[in-house]
Amino acid sequence: MITNLHKPIMVDEILSFVTNDKKLSVLDCTFGGGGHTLSFLNRGHQVTAIDQDLNAQEIANNIKVKYKKFNFFKMNFKDLERLNNNDLENKFDFILLDLGFSSNQLEDIKIGISFKENSNLNMNYLNSNITAYDIINSYSEDELSRVFADYGEINQSTKLAKFIVKARKDKSINTNFELIEVLRDSRINFRSKKIHFATQAFQALRIECNKELENLTIFLTKIFNYINKDGILAIISFHSLEDRIVKNYFKSNFFKKDKYINQKNWGYQILTKKPITPSEMEISVNPRSRSSKLRVGRFVN
Ligand SMILES: C[S@@+](CC[C@H](N)C(=O)[O-])C[C@H]1O[C@@H](n2cnc3c(N)ncnc32)[C@H](O)[C@@H]1O
Repeated sequence: MITNLHKPIMVDEILSFVTNDKKLSVLDCTFGGGGHTLSFLNRGHQVTAIDQDLNAQEIANNIKVKYKKFNFFKMNFKDLERLNNNDLENKFDFILLDLGFSSNQLEDIKIGISFKENSNLNMNYLNSNITAYDIINSYSEDELSRVFADYGEINQSTKLAKFIVKARKDKSINTNFELIEVLRDSRINFRSKKIHFATQAFQALRIECNKELENLTIFLTKIFNYINKDGILAIISFHSLEDRIVKNYFKSNFFKKDKYINQKNWGYQILTKKPITPSEMEISVNPRSRSSKLRVGRFVN
C-alpha cells in the first residue's frame, strides 16, 4: 500500500472561498494524495475527483470506503468531457486545480523527477507517450532548443541543444545523473545562483514530457461547461509559465460592471487581485509550498 507523503497546500485559504452553509458539489481535478478532497468531504460536501496517477487511484479507493459522497475518475483533466459518460452531476459549485506533481510522485524513483536521486531518465508522471529519455536522446537540435527556451527559459538554449546532440553521439544519456554531468560540462550560464543549476533543464523536460501547459490550456477552454452559476474556480500553480496562463485566462474572461469582456454570456469576477501565496508558517512546515500561487474567480453568467 502506498504511503501518502503529500501535504495539501493553502487549505484554509481555499476553504475561505466557501462562503455559505450550502453543501457543494466539488470537482477536484488534481486529487494527488487526496488532502484537498478530504478537507471538502469532512465538511459534508460532495466531491468528484480526477487524477491520472495510479497511486492516486489507490488512495482514492481507500477514501471511497469511508465516504459515500465521493467519486474518483482516473483520467487526464484535459479530457473533461469523459465525465459526461457517467450518471453523476456534471456541473460543479467549486472546481479546484492544484497543478503539477505530488510529493508522492517526486519521491518515486521510477518516475525520476528529482535531480537529487539517480534514476533512469523518465519524468513521465501522467501516462504520457514520451519520456525525458526520448526527448534527450532523439529530439532534433531545434526541438531540444525549443523545449529549453520555452519551458526552461534558458537563455543559451541553442548552445545547450547543440552540446547535448554532440554528447549523445558518443553514448546515449540514460540517467538523471548522466544528464546532470552533461549539463555541467556544457558550461551554460544557468539563470540563478540560488537554485540548483539543473532546475531549469529538468523543469523543461518535465513540462514537455507531461504536456503540462497543453493540458492546462485545453482544460481552460472547456471548464465553463462544467461550472455552476456563482461557482468558484480555484487554481494553484507552481511556476511562472503556468501562472501566466491562469492569469491571462481570468483576464480575458473578466466580468466587470455587467460586461463580459470575452463577448460571450459568461465570465469571472476575479476574487484574487493578486495571487494568494502560502504563509511563512506553511512554508516552514512544507517548503514545497514556497513557489505556489493561488488565483480564484467566481463564475458569472
Ligand atoms: C500537486 S498534486 C495535487 C495534490 C492534492 N491537491 C492533494 O491535496 O493531495 C498534483 C496531482 O495532479 C495530477 N495531475 C497533474 N496534471 C494532471 C492532468 N493533466 N490530469 C490528471 N491529473 C493530473 C498529478 O498526477 C498529481 O497527483
